[in-house]
Amino acid sequence: MFATKRENLAFLRQTGIYVPKTQGEFQIYKKPGVTLGELGVTPDDLPEQLYIMPGDRLLAVREIQSSLNQRMMQKFKEDDTDAVREYLREVLDVSFSEVTPESLEGLNNTVSMLAEHFDKKGPAMRNLALLSNSDYNTALHSVNVMALTMSYAIYHKLTRQQCHDLGMAALLHDVGKVSISEDILQAPRKLTDQEFDEIRKHPLYGYRILQKCAFRSRVISLAALQHHEKLDGTGYPFGVSDISFAGRLIAIIDCYEAVTSQDRPYRQAAKPFDALTMIRDEICSNKFDRRIFEKFLDTLT
Ligand SMILES: [Fe+2]
Ligand SMILES: [Fe+2]
Repeated sequence: MFATKRENLAFLRQTGIYVPKTQGEFQIYKKPGVTLGELGVTPDDLPEQLYIMPGDRLLAVREIQSSLNQRMMQKFKEDDTDAVREYLREVLDVSFSEVTPESLEGLNNTVSMLAEHFDKKGPAMRNLALLSNSDYNTALHSVNVMALTMSYAIYHKLTRQQCHDLGMAALLHDVGKVSISEDILQAPRKLTDQEFDEIRKHPLYGYRILQKCAFRSRVISLAALQHHEKLDGTGYPFGVSDISFAGRLIAIIDCYEAVTSQDRPYRQAAKPFDALTMIRDEICSNKFDRRIFEKFLDTLT
């Protein structure tokens, strides 16, 4: 069974759902072509153990993505920012549960919808990233970084295509973390040197994953690779100082978001002002791009 909320199973139409019969055998519970709702089954009625055949996983991800996208857009039109955030996070959680080029490419639709309606909604998008959440994870962090990045693109009148590509880059900048064990990512303690080394590989893991995807722009994989590089060459994974625009922008927003968000396992969230002061200190030591930082500040006021 691939990991998804049980409520999401209601979105499956073409995907069959199975229950275990005897050792190693399965019996069909919901056949393709019908939804659980149409069969009169509510999430509470569902048996404990449900399975989707490995060959159907991508289909399931696609069906869930597209239903969540539709609901998200509905909430977006209603200006229900909290609901939009939750749907986005859910789309990302589902996509990260089955990381394949196709499931990540499916996010293009999500971001296209947002990019298309974003300029009409200006501030609504940034508000997506304003609320703290007690249940913080990579998906929520990525949604927040995406909201701030797309706000930057809209505010500075970048093209819709650029807005889309930067939004995708932001949403997927940490996708390499799916290759790192949760024990390390969520450890409520100081990490060992080896564990830190492993975490510092996530840009490279992400780059490898994204390179296999058929995205129109290289911006997306480059940003994943470069978002922890620093202009003075002290970043990782390679310590280079030649960093793309997307890499520089997402580095700043990633840092801002990580410092201001709540409930990280190992530290208390800082106030936005403290976060900006921190980033400014890094700029003074030539780690972040000063001009991009100043333009980012414009979008926050
Ligand atoms: Fe990262
Ligand atoms: Fe990040």
